Amino acid sequence: MAWRLIALVLLLAWTAPTCRARVRTDLLNVCMDAKHHKAKPGPEDKLHAQCTPWRKKACCTVSTSQELHKDTSRLYNFTWDHCGKMEPACKRHFIQDNCLYECSPNLGPWIQEVNQSWRKERILQVPLCREDCEQWWQDCRTSYTCKSNWHRGWNWTSGVNKCPARTTCRTFEAYFPTPAALCEGIWDHSYKATNYRRGSGRCIQMWFDPAQGNPNEEVARFYAGARNAGVMPQGIEHLLLSLAPMLYLWLLGRV
Ligand SMILES: *[C@@H]1O[C@H](CO)[C@@H](O)[C@H](O)[C@H]1NC(C)=O
Ligand SMILES: *[C@@H]1O[C@H](CO)[C@@H](O)[C@H](O)[C@H]1NC(C)=O
Ligand SMILES: *[C@@H]1O[C@H](CO)[C@@H](O)[C@H](O)[C@H]1NC(C)=O
Repeated sequence: MAWRLIALVLLLAWTAPTCRARVRTDLLNVCMDAKHHKAKPGPEDKLHAQCTPWRKKACCTVSTSQELHKDTSRLYNFTWDHCGKMEPACKRHFIQDNCLYECSPNLGPWIQEVNQSWRKERILQVPLCREDCEQWWQDCRTSYTCKSNWHRGWNWTSGVNKCPARTTCRTFEAYFPTPAALCEGIWDHSYKATNYRRGSGRCIQMWFDPAQGNPNEEVARFYAGARNAGVMPQGIEHLLLSLAPMLYLWLLGRV
């Protein structure tokens, strides 16, 4: 009987987590479940300034797109200017990063559930095109900050993010020695730095000319396809899982 017990424990250990995990099946043309996103992507003719590339299909509203161009937007009460004024050449990258985050319907393959008070989902390791990451870093090298992970650790007592005690304002370059350190570190691995070039169909572009269409659609399709190919063997897993109740009974010696 001992082997039956062992087999039963193994079966339980295998099936329990599989049954609980909620697998996101819709990877294309979706909006994440976060603070300001719409439930579904759709046209937004009046998107503001740097967010206009997403006009045809967007997860952000017009007011979100306007708000995120402000220095301390009410979306998050987050200020770029926590170590003095951020240079405009640098700031435009943060605005673009925000437009991508709030507006893009092409981030589905990288959406993950999170246990945070202010959102249910986040993005993780979105493969950013090399040029977009490098230009961001180049244009921000000479601006100032006091932290290398902007997701956590701020002093929020004033209502706006302030540098926490025992940190020092230094150049971006001091906190982010390389483009990858910036793109991957700043939002806690929301992005992954890649060697893929813009237009390769293998990396997400923060910047694009909408006259040529949205290049990130193809990229999302590629990675969703790769994801689904990886899921194929799970067909067998599902078959085995559907047989699990019978296996349990058998292992319990009831049949
Ligand atoms: C931002 O601050 C304003 C005023 O201090 C407040 O009314 C608002 O709720 C805050 N927003 C967030 C997202 O915390
Ligand atoms: C989420 O975090 C809270 C507080 O840290 C915790 O009480 C809760 O059990 C967590 N929920 C999940 C699903 O992990
Ligand atoms: C947070 O900032 C306030 C002033 O806004 C200051 O009094 C307090 O000591 C700071 N706390 C930490 C932990 O840095």
